[in-house]
Amino acid sequence: MLLVNIGILGLGTVGGGVVNVLNKNQKQIIRRSGNNINVTHAAVRDITQTRICPTKNIKLTQDPFQIVNNDDISVVLELMGGVGLAKNLIEQAIKNGKHVVTANKALIATYGNELLALAKDYNTHLLFEAAVAGGIPILKSLKDGLSANQIELVAGIINGTSNFILTEMHNKDRNFQDALKEAKALGYAEANPTFDVEGIDTAHKLAILASMAFGCELQFNQITTEGISNISSEDITYATKLGYTIKHIGIAKKLNDKLQMHVRPTLVPTTHLLSNVNGVMNGILIKGNAVGETLYYGAGAGDEATASSVIADLIDIIRNTANHDIFGWKSLINITKCNTNSIA
Ligand code: NDP
Ligand code: HSE
Repeated sequence: MLLVNIGILGLGTVGGGVVNVLNKNQKQIIRRSGNNINVTHAAVRDITQTRICPTKNIKLTQDPFQIVNNDDISVVLELMGGVGLAKNLIEQAIKNGKHVVTANKALIATYGNELLALAKDYNTHLLFEAAVAGGIPILKSLKDGLSANQIELVAGIINGTSNFILTEMHNKDRNFQDALKEAKALGYAEANPTFDVEGIDTAHKLAILASMAFGCELQFNQITTEGISNISSEDITYATKLGYTIKHIGIAKKLNDKLQMHVRPTLVPTTHLLSNVNGVMNGILIKGNAVGETLYYGAGAGDEATASSVIADLIDIIRNTANHDIFGWKSLINITKCNTNSIA
């Protein structure tokens, strides 16, 4: 049995959750990965801050390049967020022959095409299950469980913060700002919560889902996006009276060989399953031409739920079962660019 050294960039909500889950499920994780895993280093901004996880055996550094340039580290977990420094660090890690796992949907949606190509060139893995829908293994389901299908529709509540706010407004009559404040305190919101409430985070995730589902390059900038910041208490009252729940939904569907993608507040009949996806939970409906409709439900954000997906990728890498051609660009549809026609 080998000892695999891991370096973590960022020890906040997700990074701390990863360390805690690695500790509490150590035996199972070693058995399933076939190797011992040791978190040796972690990069943070503030070394003196109290963490949600133990740090006694981890060397903390304020210089994340120390981690990506460390020859003893085989896998880097990028859990700090942002698209500038995080991109440089991942590029450097890949060029140094390291495998990378990230939860950073903004980075993958924006630069995923080039980063995946780089990882392929350097024969390393770049995986990002946690980037979409937190703890729900939705990318693995698309890649593996639904691989016999042509996907026709992906529709989902894939931002925990906005769903939490809408649920609080519907069920507890709370106001928008108050509910957002609580979502931030619970660690669900992005560093910039505008991403959550204006639909940008949902669009990042939808771009990744659509790319995986329809076998095309990431096309984040083709998505028409509308947030929930203009939803008022009156909107909620009228929707309820008419038998609907307002949900913030991202949709990607194929129509006459074109891919249509949009994110917007949507009236969902209260009898529909997606209407009952509440709080920080996410729900994703995927329709395949063989299986029909399938629905995936689970925590869309939070420390240990997100860590569950990060560690699943880590185990995949250690088992060496991850597939470099993660979007199946060559195998699913013989195109590299989907024909998009976003609907307003
Ligand atoms: P946090 O803000 O809780 O944690 C970020 C961590 O990165 C902190 O430990 C911070 O250090 C560290 N960090 C930031 N910048 C630097 C830097 N320049 N140098 C060194 N360390 C740095 O974020 P989250 O854990 O919530 O999110 C991390 C990533 O995971 C993001 O990409 C996010 O979108 C994604 N994600 C988050 C989920 C969630 O539920 N929160 C769910 C799914 C994905 P310090 O603590 O000292 O400030
Ligand atoms: N801010 C994100 C959300 C975190 O609320 O869904 C999980 O990606």
